[in-house]
Formats: sequence, structure tokens, C-alpha cells
Amino acid sequence: MDIPAARWYPAIAVRHSRRIFNSEALEAGVVSRLGEVCRDFRPFDGVRAEFVLESPDRIFKGAVGPYGKVKGATALIAFVGDTTDPHVNEKLGYVGEGIVLEATAMDLGTCWVGGFFRKSVAAKVLRIGGQEQVFAVTPVGRAVDGATREERR
Ligand SMILES: Cc1cc2nc3c(=O)[nH]c(=O)nc-3n(C[C@H](O)[C@H](O)[C@H](O)COP(=O)(O)O)c2cc1C
Repeated sequence: MDIPAARWYPAIAVRHSRRIFNSEALEAGVVSRLGEVCRDFRPFDGVRAEFVLESPDRIFKGAVGPYGKVKGATALIAFVGDTTDPHVNEKLGYVGEGIVLEATAMDLGTCWVGGFFRKSVAAKVLRIGGQEQVFAVTPVGRAVDGATREERR
């Protein structure tokens, strides 16, 4: 896939992580575009983004971090990589931020979560095993209007 630089570059200045979403189902066009970009933006072997049309709540449940909780998202994107690849983090960072910028260009909220989520639950949701691991997850959806006080902490 060619990088849509004219869409992604301006999204860099606009993107802010968002954690509180409006709980509404995503429109069919949005679902299809997110699925398509996750399938097509695969510049490297060994890493990929997967769009999952389900709430990330069970992946985040019980995981406690220094930031606020994610609430109300109806979909997630998981960043999956091969643990034996020495450059897996760099590759996933590049692929993941591309996907995050595409979501931003679509007026959707995201929030990278790489530490405080349940990796075993994420692996089940993604049906992965062996050498692969879910390295990070982002909720994706329509964030509530304006950053909440919880998000501004
Ligand atoms: C690779 C990566 C992993 C992250 N992991 C977590 C995490 O596990 N938990 C969390 O609450 N925030 C995590 N964050 C931070 C948020 O995604 C976000 O960057 C932070 O709230 C600052 O907001 P900003 O992105 O609008 O600057 C991570 C960020 C990055 C880039």
C-alpha cells in the first residue's frame, strides 16, 4: 500500500490520545475502511495490525496503569508481532502509528496501550500463539466531545 502522506501528515498535528468513547457502533463504511487499511498497510514481514470489531474491555479489565481507564470503545486494533524478530518493536511502532494516523484522519479516537493490558486475553481474541504476541492495543472509535477531565490528568 502506498502511504497516503497527504492524509497522514496533517493528522500528526491533530492526534491526541483519547480514552473515553461514545459506545455507539461504528458505521459499516468505517469498519470496512479500518479493516482494509490494517490488511493493506503491511510494509514489513513479521508484524501486522488487526482490526477487531469488539469492545477492548475484556483485554483491559483489571489492568491497572498510571493513566486513566479506557471506556466505551466498541472496537480495537491489535498490533501483533513475531517475538523472534529483533526489530519487532521498531516495525510495530511504524506500522501502528500509520494506522493510528489513518484513524485520526477518519476523525476517530485512539490510545496506544502497550503495557497495561492482558496479553493472554488479547492472544485469545486474536487467536494467535507460537512465536507471535500482541505487543500493543488501541481502542478505536468516536471519542466523546472534548477531552474529559479524566483524560486530561
Ligand atoms: C507505544 C506506546 C505504549 C503505550 N502504553 C500505554 C499503556 O500501557 N497504558 C497507558 O495508559 N498509556 C500508554 N501509552 C500512552 C498513551 O497512549 C498516550 O500516548 C499518552 O496518554 C499521552 O497522550 P498523547 O498521545 O495524546 O500525547 C503508550 C504510548 C505509546 C506510544
